Amino acid sequence: MTPAEAEAQQRRWRALVDERLPEAARARPDWPVSRNHCFARILLDNACGGPWRESVAPPAWANMPPERLALAVSLGEAVLAGRQDLAALNHRSLLWRRKRPVPPAPARLTGENFALRRWQLSDDAPFAALCADPEVMRYFPAPKTARESQAEARALDRRFEEDGFGPWAVEAPEGFCGFVGCWRPARPLPLGDLLGRETGLVEIGWRLARPAWGRGFAVRGARLALADAFSRCALAEVVACTAESNTPSRRVMERLGMSEVGGFDHPGLPEGHRLRPHRLYRLAAADFAMRSF
Ligand SMILES: CC(C)(COP(=O)(O)OP(=O)(O)OC[C@H]1O[C@@H](n2cnc3c(N)ncnc32)[C@H](O)[C@@H]1OP(=O)(O)O)[C@@H](O)C(=O)NCCC(=O)NCCS
Repeated sequence: MTPAEAEAQQRRWRALVDERLPEAARARPDWPVSRNHCFARILLDNACGGPWRESVAPPAWANMPPERLALAVSLGEAVLAGRQDLAALNHRSLLWRRKRPVPPAPARLTGENFALRRWQLSDDAPFAALCADPEVMRYFPAPKTARESQAEARALDRRFEEDGFGPWAVEAPEGFCGFVGCWRPARPLPLGDLLGRETGLVEIGWRLARPAWGRGFAVRGARLALADAFSRCALAEVVACTAESNTPSRRVMERLGMSEVGGFDHPGLPEGHRLRPHRLYRLAAADFAMRSF
């Protein structure tokens, strides 16, 4: 962006938050805010993925990286055009500022011909079956025993109590068929150099039984889980990683609009192991919001 373009964008920003949004608010009693500084807070926080003052010195319109300000402007334009929900953006900003508690996880999220729900004890048997299938587990070091799968199912569901979100059980018309969702990695991965930070990582992942493949449950389920995690829980970013050779999983990441960050060696696997080279992807809440209208 040239200096002249950056200046024009700053003018667009000022007009948007000082005039156009407050003016539009007069006809929108349902909007949660009406003042210029509130619009600025909401749009800037959402463009930054957190309270904007944590990453930008005031005044934001002058100091913000131009591409981030461009995102804030597009979000504002989308609010004006009715393509973005101002209340949802405000909710996220207030959660980031700890002005609101994270609402409890819903019992289920409903998609077309499938649902994401909390785990049930009756999922143990079909989960053990899919985790014992060598084809499903070909990108893992080994298939799991029934006892290991049961322990994993309990641990995955406990995430909802610990973090307020977790990997959801996927319910297809024929019943339980696997999981998709977000979690905080239990063991830290060596991603600091790739991401520029080590802490606060949230990962998204999926594992489905073979009859559920090719039906869009991973991609559509992940979209539902991400919409919930980014809005209700106000996550700023999620990452995903998988073995370099796991093309189906990388395809899901790409279909979600995640960007590939780079490669790393999985520390849990010995040197020379076929699954040791991994690829890392990331997706910011603001980028997901921009893709979903
Ligand atoms: C990774 C995994 C979940 C991906 O499953 P998948 O069936 O390829 O992914 P989806 O369920 O989203 O299906 C996408 C495919 O379904 C098709 N599809 C059918 N109906 C669809 C719909 N309504 N919406 C979207 N896609 C649809 C798509 O065209 C797409 O096919 P394409 O990729 O050939 O274009 C699955 O391979 C798996 O469980 N693997 C084993 C476990 C694993 O490796 N997990 C990841 C560890 S990191």
